[in-house]
Amino acid sequence: MAKDPTSSSITFHHLCYLLFAVSALSSISFIYWSHCSTCSCGADPSPISLHQHNQSINLLSFPSAWNHLSFSSTPPRKLLKIALFVKRWPQRNLAGGLERHALTLHLALARRGHEVHVFTTTTSSNSTNLNTTLRFHFTPPSPGGYLNQALAWQQFQTQNSTDNKPFDVVHTESVGLFHGRARNLSHLAVSWHGIAYETIHSDIVQDLLRGPNETRQSVLTERLVKVIEEVKFFNRYSHHVATSDHVGDVLKRIYMIPEDRVHIIVNGVDETIYKPDSTRGKDFLREAGVPENATLVIGMAGRLVKDKGHPLIFEALKQIYVEDENFKRDVFVLVAGDGPWGSRYRDLGPNLRVLGLLEQTQLASFYNSLDVFINPTLRAQGLDHTFIEAMLSGKPVMGTRFASITGSLIVGSDIGYTFLPTVGSLKESLYMMFRDGRDVLGIKGKVARNRAVQLFTATKMATAYERLFLCISTGTYEKNDDKYDYCKYPLPLD
Ligand SMILES: *[C@@H]1O[C@H](CO)[C@@H](O)[C@H](O)[C@H]1NC(C)=O
Ligand SMILES: *[C@@H]1O[C@H](CO)[C@@H](O)[C@H](O)[C@H]1NC(C)=O
Ligand SMILES: *[C@@H]1O[C@H](CO)[C@@H](O)[C@H](O)[C@H]1NC(C)=O
Ligand SMILES: *[C@@H]1O[C@H](CO)[C@@H](O)[C@H](O)[C@H]1NC(C)=O
Ligand SMILES: *[C@@H]1O[C@H](CO)[C@@H](O)[C@H](O)[C@H]1NC(C)=O
Ligand SMILES: *[C@@H]1O[C@H](CO)[C@@H](O)[C@H](O)[C@H]1NC(C)=O
Ligand SMILES: *[C@@H]1O[C@H](CO)[C@@H](O)[C@H](O)[C@H]1NC(C)=O
Repeated sequence: MAKDPTSSSITFHHLCYLLFAVSALSSISFIYWSHCSTCSCGADPSPISLHQHNQSINLLSFPSAWNHLSFSSTPPRKLLKIALFVKRWPQRNLAGGLERHALTLHLALARRGHEVHVFTTTTSSNSTNLNTTLRFHFTPPSPGGYLNQALAWQQFQTQNSTDNKPFDVVHTESVGLFHGRARNLSHLAVSWHGIAYETIHSDIVQDLLRGPNETRQSVLTERLVKVIEEVKFFNRYSHHVATSDHVGDVLKRIYMIPEDRVHIIVNGVDETIYKPDSTRGKDFLREAGVPENATLVIGMAGRLVKDKGHPLIFEALKQIYVEDENFKRDVFVLVAGDGPWGSRYRDLGPNLRVLGLLEQTQLASFYNSLDVFINPTLRAQGLDHTFIEAMLSGKPVMGTRFASITGSLIVGSDIGYTFLPTVGSLKESLYMMFRDGRDVLGIKGKVARNRAVQLFTATKMATAYERLFLCISTGTYEKNDDKYDYCKYPLPLD
């Protein structure tokens, strides 16, 4: 049996117990019970709620992902005026992770009644005619392609003094708002989607995979300097949202940001779009020309470029096709997306289907058509949404053994498979998946879905951010007999 460290579910369970044992001594013990129940550690951790025990914690110093807490889904009494700074607003479905995050999160917040103002760059096309309460303030980009800080700030100031209604909170996606202007704002949170320290891991991987004729990337020597620069300027932002458990740890430990200013909220995706639907999955397979007797269907999605790991899985499949006739005959591979590797896949064999770019609803059907979803990314920075989309669709996932992926998403072999970024390790995972077969994959898919529904929905993400914003804006709400301290958890409604 190959040594897949996701088979470390035993270790993980031990970790859960350890957390419980340690925390039982502290006031936040019951949080960990609910944490444990979501990752199914222990035989029967009958969930004990904080409510029954009148336990209350200070959210700002909560050390784990806020996704493990359960916030009331009814909109809060206090509605916020929120400023969002984001370099680009997504164009249809072609957006990268950061932009998708901005869209998903702030649409949800606007639907909950908050007044969201988006400060972003002018786009050529006209896709912002969304029927929502989002209000856009466009400025032409700076020569470097960033948000023009002076112009955006001017618009922000104008809005801040409009109607005698200043902003309650400022949210910046990465360095959308530079630290020079962000530094004096206490009601501000920045979300990081990839930091230089994580990128060092990608650099190492990509240099190891470098061909004999390729020269070493010069960026390698600059990376450490970049990390040190980040350590210096990150501290100027008041509150930080880490989008994975690993990044939360790095921000506290290596970037040395005080723990009560670092908050972990793992990304969520729209659970009304990505959900199990076997009929749509079957229809999709038929349209893609996959025969009904196909033994297994595996899928990949995203930009088909080198740093998303396509050369790696291309080589792995090529070798497997020589070594194992059954795999070659029985396994179908669906590739959604476009990029230079698309045409190469077509040459690999008759069981590969390159589907091109898919619209969101097609993508949802695509996930439903699979037995397993594979993302061989070589980028350690950030957290790929595709894993979460597949998990919400009830599919097991296979991914590179990067700390954010194994620490937050594929936390055990009951959810899927992880591999080192080498052809050999990826092949081992593919063979293991093939041997496990459709039934085992189906069981893993159910576990993956349960975890994603509990932790990684757009609703979960939005309610967690909302609570953070309420907490760092004024912190409290008081009207007649109602009095809430939003920095405390749980509130009566939670
Ligand atoms: C929790 O607090 C409320 C009011 O503060 C009180 O009525 C209730 O008895 C307490 N419950 C427990 C289990 O202590
Ligand atoms: C965008 O749409 C608005 C109204 O629908 C129109 O007036 C404007 O000219 C459009 N802009 C571009 C760049 O297409
Ligand atoms: C916009 O949304 C509202 C409420 O959801 C709906 O009543 C209205 O018909 C929508 N308008 C358009 C143009 O889609
Ligand atoms: C926004 O307006 C309020 C009220 O006038 C003021 O206290 C605050 O400093 C302003 N914020 C910024 C960033 O200028
Ligand atoms: C931030 O505050 C410092 C000291 O209080 C001040 O010198 C500086 O001008 C302020 N910066 C901005 C952009 O307001
Ligand atoms: C490397 O370059 C040499 C000389 O240009 C060429 O002969 C050789 O085939 C190249 N090797 C690879 C792996 O591309
Ligand atoms: C699936 O059916 C086709 C004929 O429709 C046949 O050629 C092929 O061998 C079958 N594959 C499997 C895995 O049974």
